[in-house]
Amino acid sequence: MTIDKKFIDKFIKVSSKAAFASSYLVGKKNKIAADQAAVDSMRTELNKISMNGKVVIGEGSLDNAPMLYTGEYLGNKNGPDFDIAVDPLEGTNFAANNLPGAISVIAIAEKGNLFNAPETYMDKIATGKIERGLVDLDYSLKKNIHNLAEFMNKDISSITACILDRPRHKKIIEELKKLKVNLKLITDGDVLGALYVSNPKYDVDIFLGIGGGPEGVLAASALDAYNCHFQGRFIFNNDKDINEAKKMGITNLNKKYELNEITKGDSIFCASGITSSNVLQGIKIKGDNYISETLVTHKSSGFKKIIKSTNLIKE
Ligand code: FBP
Repeated sequence: MTIDKKFIDKFIKVSSKAAFASSYLVGKKNKIAADQAAVDSMRTELNKISMNGKVVIGEGSLDNAPMLYTGEYLGNKNGPDFDIAVDPLEGTNFAANNLPGAISVIAIAEKGNLFNAPETYMDKIATGKIERGLVDLDYSLKKNIHNLAEFMNKDISSITACILDRPRHKKIIEELKKLKVNLKLITDGDVLGALYVSNPKYDVDIFLGIGGGPEGVLAASALDAYNCHFQGRFIFNNDKDINEAKKMGITNLNKKYELNEITKGDSIFCASGITSSNVLQGIKIKGDNYISETLVTHKSSGFKKIIKSTNLIKE
């Protein structure tokens, strides 16, 4: 089974509209309002689609999030069964402070095919397409970098690694410096951080480090369409997270997830720019229209493109 191509445009509209809704709050120093605007819009638009969609990654549990909560059913029920993962505003600080890289993201797979990720951190590693077994979360950093450099026929000093700039990564960053690897330190937004490995034009050879688990699943969905390498391991370091994980049916808390265990079968991924970055232009207003840019992948058809769309503001 595959997801019908006709859904591509529908989901582009969902992420574009959410990005547009959030764009009014860009630079207003209010990340909660910017997020809420994207959430409201995304939920309204998803409910218009002829599908029976289940949110597997959303804004949290029903207790914490009345909209787009994990487990919520969306769509008019008159269509296929989908799993839906959303991050209506990825990079809340970017939007609040008018900095590059705020995006609105959605990933869809057929029912039962998208990992229901707990709201915890995930240790992640991603590269472009490589031979199996070359880069692995269980290897030392040195081994991964050496193997990758050899595979890419590059000097280690020409390898670029992207990682969130966080105190928890101090040791890794020090080691990368010692190895003479080029660093691309990001302050937020590790969905885009991981996506950099999908295309040589972004000049990132490896993405690694600890970020949000849900963001890991979203990135994995796009990376799958690019045949990239991705692995993730959730981090459960308190009783609450451990109990949540057990309730979700996760028995092996140390399991390393391969890409094909996070997302299976066909998928559609859409990420629309809210503020501009080197990947996507942010929302632009032109007369009665807004212009959005969306990175779209549809695994089964091989469709992978940045789509620019012009939409009426009052629709
Ligand atoms: P928000 O959009 O929810 O603010 O998340 C931004 C982000 O940078 C993610 O891209 C990343 O996965 C996560 O936060 C990292 O978390 P932390 O800021 O706690 O290190």
